[in-house]
Amino acid sequence: MNTRREKRPEKSPYILAIESSCDETSAAVLAAGYEVLSNIVLSQDEIHAPYGGVVPELASRRHIQSIGYVVSESLERAGFRLSDMDYFAVTQGPGLIGSLLVGLSFAKGLAYYFDKPLIPADHLEAHIHSAFIENSEIPFPALALLVSGGHTSIYLVKEKLDAGLIARTRDDAAGEALDKIAKFLDLGYPGGPVIDEMAKSGDRKRFRFTLPRMSDNSLDFSFSGLKTAAIKHIRDQKISKSCTEIYDFLASFQDAVVRALLMNLKKGIDLLHPRALILAGGVARNQALRLGFTELAKKQGLDGFIPSPEFCTDNAAMVAALALEKIKRGDIPSSFLDLNAYARMIK
Ligand code: KG4
Ligand code: ZN
Repeated sequence: MNTRREKRPEKSPYILAIESSCDETSAAVLAAGYEVLSNIVLSQDEIHAPYGGVVPELASRRHIQSIGYVVSESLERAGFRLSDMDYFAVTQGPGLIGSLLVGLSFAKGLAYYFDKPLIPADHLEAHIHSAFIENSEIPFPALALLVSGGHTSIYLVKEKLDAGLIARTRDDAAGEALDKIAKFLDLGYPGGPVIDEMAKSGDRKRFRFTLPRMSDNSLDFSFSGLKTAAIKHIRDQKISKSCTEIYDFLASFQDAVVRALLMNLKKGIDLLHPRALILAGGVARNQALRLGFTELAKKQGLDGFIPSPEFCTDNAAMVAALALEKIKRGDIPSSFLDLNAYARMIK
């Protein structure tokens, strides 16, 4: 059991943030200077694994069961009580509506009871902001590659709360493509981490994949073609989870996904001449992508910033970090009871 910490005025504001946009229930306590005092993430992987993907109804029900425990645990680890918090923060969207509503309703209840402001956070902005937790002085403008299970986009970050969308995926997100191929091969859910691990033992040059190119020269991504090519390889070469080629196949497929991501990021660098690069989102945990991104940044003479793995996949610390910045700028809603969750990207 943690002992109670002293609330130091110079560390104010103290923020409790909640994230429940998909299948992770998370709560974090953050103090000034991006000091993460706790970041509890309860994954629902075992519930969704039999289905090979997130089942929205099961996700929201599990959030309801877990959220009280996750919030108490985050306070316990931080050594504080709910009444010590100066602000509450919560993910408003995009995400699964049922899942988002659990976090949002819980956070509204806390803010109402303790009579404290509630800061709403955009999930994608929070992912980008995760890069500032460990590096608050990233030079601007920065080009951010955000790669998750639901989104794959490039943003031009002019300053901390000013990220403009430059490119997005026209079909699947990169994480979704990895997860779907893993599901096709019966490798488990989520597939991204499994492929990451298995690809380490394979030869990435063994199977050929042609990278997608947009006819209009845009920086948008597309992963459905790579996914179809992967399924064709699997069928033609009779690849299964028990055959020896699987490692080479996964290494080659993962390499194609990584090359597709970095090819467009490179085009973005040539076009927009940023001063730094950011890699964020769940797929930013991927070791081949981290390596490729770091090499690209080095080659381009740019500083590359990748959050620690715990801040890449969905977590509430990134929500708290974004809220901290909003508080500094005075971007605090005067009323919060009418805040609504949104399913799709709004910026
Ligand atoms: O950001 P995130 O936690 O949730 C969304 O906002 O979507 O990202 C989840 C995605 C999943 O597709 C998962 O397979 C992928 O991130 N992922 C990885 C790795 N860890 C998580 N993909 C590749 N390699 C990893 N190590
Ligand atoms: Zn996410």
